[in-house]
Amino acid sequence: KSKSDNADENYPKLDRAKYPGGHLTIYYGSQTGTAQMFAKQIVSEAENHGFCARIVDLQDVVDNDDFDFHHNGEEVDEDAALLRATLAHPRYRDDHDDENAGDTAAAAAADSNGHHKLPQQRSKALFFMATYGEGEPTDNAQQFVDIMKVKSGISNIYKFGTEIHGDGTMSASASSGSICLGDDNDGAKEAAAAADGRRDTTFLHDIDYAVFGLGNMQYEHYNNMGRFIDAALEQCGARRVAPIGLGNDDDDLEGDFETWKDNVLWPALMGRYVKKGAMKKATVENGEGGKKTAALPPCPYTVEYLQTAAVGITSSPDSSIQTSSKHYSQAVDCPVVASRELRDPSDPGSTIHMEIDISKHMDTMKYTTADNLGILPKNDDATVKAVADALNFDLDRVFHLLPSNNDNIKKDGGGSAESSSSKHTLPFPTPCTVRECLERYCDLTGPPRRSDLKQLAPYAQNDMDRKALLRMSSKEGKAEYKEKIIEAHVGIADIVTRLCTSIVCPLEHFIMVCPRLQPRYYTISSSSTVYPTTIHITLAVLETEKKVAGAAGGGVFRGLCSGYLAGLKNGDLIRAFVRESTFRLPKQVGRPVIMFGPGTGIAPMRAILQERSHGRKNGVEHGASILYFGCKNRTMDYIYRDELELLRDEGTLTELHLAFSREQNHKVYVQNLLAQRAAETWRLIHDEMASIFVCGAVKMGADVDHTLQDIISEQGGMSREKAKAYLDKMAVAGRFIQELWS
Ligand code: 2AM
Repeated sequence: KSKSDNADENYPKLDRAKYPGGHLTIYYGSQTGTAQMFAKQIVSEAENHGFCARIVDLQDVVDNDDFDFHHNGEEVDEDAALLRATLAHPRYRDDHDDENAGDTAAAAAADSNGHHKLPQQRSKALFFMATYGEGEPTDNAQQFVDIMKVKSGISNIYKFGTEIHGDGTMSASASSGSICLGDDNDGAKEAAAAADGRRDTTFLHDIDYAVFGLGNMQYEHYNNMGRFIDAALEQCGARRVAPIGLGNDDDDLEGDFETWKDNVLWPALMGRYVKKGAMKKATVENGEGGKKTAALPPCPYTVEYLQTAAVGITSSPDSSIQTSSKHYSQAVDCPVVASRELRDPSDPGSTIHMEIDISKHMDTMKYTTADNLGILPKNDDATVKAVADALNFDLDRVFHLLPSNNDNIKKDGGGSAESSSSKHTLPFPTPCTVRECLERYCDLTGPPRRSDLKQLAPYAQNDMDRKALLRMSSKEGKAEYKEKIIEAHVGIADIVTRLCTSIVCPLEHFIMVCPRLQPRYYTISSSSTVYPTTIHITLAVLETEKKVAGAAGGGVFRGLCSGYLAGLKNGDLIRAFVRESTFRLPKQVGRPVIMFGPGTGIAPMRAILQERSHGRKNGVEHGASILYFGCKNRTMDYIYRDELELLRDEGTLTELHLAFSREQNHKVYVQNLLAQRAAETWRLIHDEMASIFVCGAVKMGADVDHTLQDIISEQGGMSREKAKAYLDKMAVAGRFIQELWS
């Protein structure tokens, strides 16, 4: 037995008068920081609800070196043992004394394995799981998910995403208030059915849990990771103590979270673990009621200024950087070697073809055809300067960011701080200048979330500013927030420089409050075989009218990254890194590929076609390459026209289907052209094992998906459900790949 399985009396006892609910650990799988922010919010509310909470990065769950394991010759998967050791760490267990014991599916599952009672000591865990891309886990949750796949015996993790999509009632319950699925949900039944013989039903038999998923309903595998983990934990014997909450970022993610937290999670936890009357009068002093806050909120960081541009100072080790920020240190500077407009001047829109030279970084920037390029954008000089002026920062100073020796991490294991066992605590690499910090690591122009406004409020020195921030961060202020922040494209920079000018915020606090500037991902549009030392991207420059209440047009809002890239010249440096994508050409080159890539969705198709053209010239016999491309009309935005027609003329592109949506009175889209070729498409898919690639806007992706279902159902003579399952199977086999953006 691993040592964590024995309650260790050496750990300090929790003050149960202060924390009648006991310990609560909140794990997060986060890519851009939202899941982490929600997790922190739970921690900040825990004490008032009677719980002693801590927060743990899911990466740290398996990176933990506090334990040494002796497997006693048993074949125990080391990672799984680490996971269990963290989830069931004796220090954070409590005596289990809730009356509802034995009434759950988990308990029943344990019973059938000969455990007649719930273990006396249990741990409580919450999981905030973001779903990324086409149903994948975030980078920091990857290993956790891999372990849970094995231990739960659930091999098809997409079951849950598709399940909800095909089911009207589930979708409905997910969109309204986004609470769905109880202990007896279909997803759980599916999970049980999907789980194979390998599952370990007692692996987490002493864990109580609840899951909140973060997803976007525009995507097919909506909240797949939250659903998978919720089901997998149950399969491993853990006990679900509150139904899963699902947040939809296409609508009101924060609202979904708040509703779940206030109406589901806390009532469930309080009801189960906190005896009535056990809570002393709660201290309702969290800065909400317009109370003047004299002291600054606690901050996990300390800024240490350095004397000069500090030669020889070692930068922060990678292990101290949060996993959600590791791209900051991965990225390298690559020069732009070509940049040109692809559209005709008569088109008011803009799509740019850009090439960067990676020859100096062949170790880290090596790519495979149709991988993604992550680009770290920069805030422009004027914005950076304005923020520094408003907050009195000296842009040229060099500083080191360190974890603060926070007294919050008390010896009783309590406190509202990042777990002391968490190694990954810093948000970006230092030393750096204040300029670099604001330019590269702080999102100054993106829309702050409502919780960001709440965090900013205590720094406002005048009542009006503070009240405005608190009002817009409250549930009641949603409409005002939407109008004045979202639709007006107001960023943190606008707030500190012109809307709430009374804000005074020291640098380390600003770093804490301001969201991180996120990388933007572009699908690489070059073949690595043909262009091993350059990477091509195809980017649409985003421009939208700012809405200003009561006025016509508030000027133009330019997408930060595309605006930044559009302004670059040859020789300028782009900080970038390569990320694997799901696009992979079929291994059997003789099989046909059918590609849908209207607009900038052409990017990966261009790479694939370059690859196939190169192969053909070297004697490789390819299957048919069929491309559906769409744009407004052939004179304005038929991008890469020359290349595509050349590929067709040389024989690489077997069929080129063009949908010019605005050349006639009615719209013609790629899916309309597809519908006209039903019999032929079915033959390619079914008889010739064709692969299908789709890239572009989600709406287009959904329309193509539907048309494919129509074709499979009609031509293959099967029901709608069977047709869907047919496509799902193709997806699992890597023959149906979508890369869509909203
Ligand atoms: P539209 O702008 O004329 O509506 C590239 O942006 C092309 O994709 C344009 O021709 C655009 O047409 C088209 N498009 C817009 N919505 C689409 C959808 N749902 N499905 C397929 N193509 C779409």
